[in-house]
Amino acid sequence: MSRRKLVVLSGAGISAESGIPTFRDADGLWEGHDVMEVASPQGWQRNPQLVLDFYNQRRKVARKVEPNRGHSILAELEEEFEVVIITQNVDDLHEKAGSSQVIHLHGELFKSRSTVDPSLIYDVEGWELNWGDTCEKGSQLRPHIVWFGEMVPMMEVAAVHAQQADIFIVVGTSLVVYPAAGLLDYVSSSVPKYIVDPNMPSVQSRPNLHLIEKIGSEGLQEVLERLF
Ligand code: APR
Repeated sequence: MSRRKLVVLSGAGISAESGIPTFRDADGLWEGHDVMEVASPQGWQRNPQLVLDFYNQRRKVARKVEPNRGHSILAELEEEFEVVIITQNVDDLHEKAGSSQVIHLHGELFKSRSTVDPSLIYDVEGWELNWGDTCEKGSQLRPHIVWFGEMVPMMEVAAVHAQQADIFIVVGTSLVVYPAAGLLDYVSSSVPKYIVDPNMPSVQSRPNLHLIEKIGSEGLQEVLERLF
């Protein structure tokens, strides 16, 4: 008998306990940075150095932090379930914790991409990506991040996983950025859906919805106990 499929949608909140600031909490990441200046194609055209510096700074922080208990619980669930993590996060903490199926809807901080051929993707060695770093075709490299206004190439794949879920967990996301926030609507009404967040985002009520108003590590522990 094939294992039940457990699908997770995670956001910045799951990395908060590892020390990575979220975007919209009081001391959020965007404060001090106009999001359209540092995370949009227009910002990149206008001032690429500011964009490179913004992501270099985030890489500098992200490379020093470790996954927390919340990430580990999701990795451990792979012993019992087929687990697919759909994350809005660009850090690599789910992978570091041992999750083996991670889909990054908004890109990956430790990767860069050619500006002339988007299929050319490279690992960022260390934490810096600088002006003058070029792809094998000689064009400037950019952060491998989905910026505001850009397509979310992995959304279709993520939606199919959500439709196939036997259990769906949302953790650490304000559910305000689409299309990611719309994934919950792909989940079958008969499937248990857990939302873990200390400041519960507003979610349209629906069958089998369980709201757990706790931080990631504690809320996922509670989900774990309800599953077994
Ligand atoms: N544990 C769990 N959730 C937490 C914790 C915690 N310790 N601390 C904060 N949160 C919750 C907040 O209550 C909020 O609902 O995490 C959520 C963080 O929301 P955002 O900062 O909006 O982050 P996210 O939802 O991931 O943003 C989505 O927006 O800025 C863009 O592309 C960026 O991927 C990002 C997307």
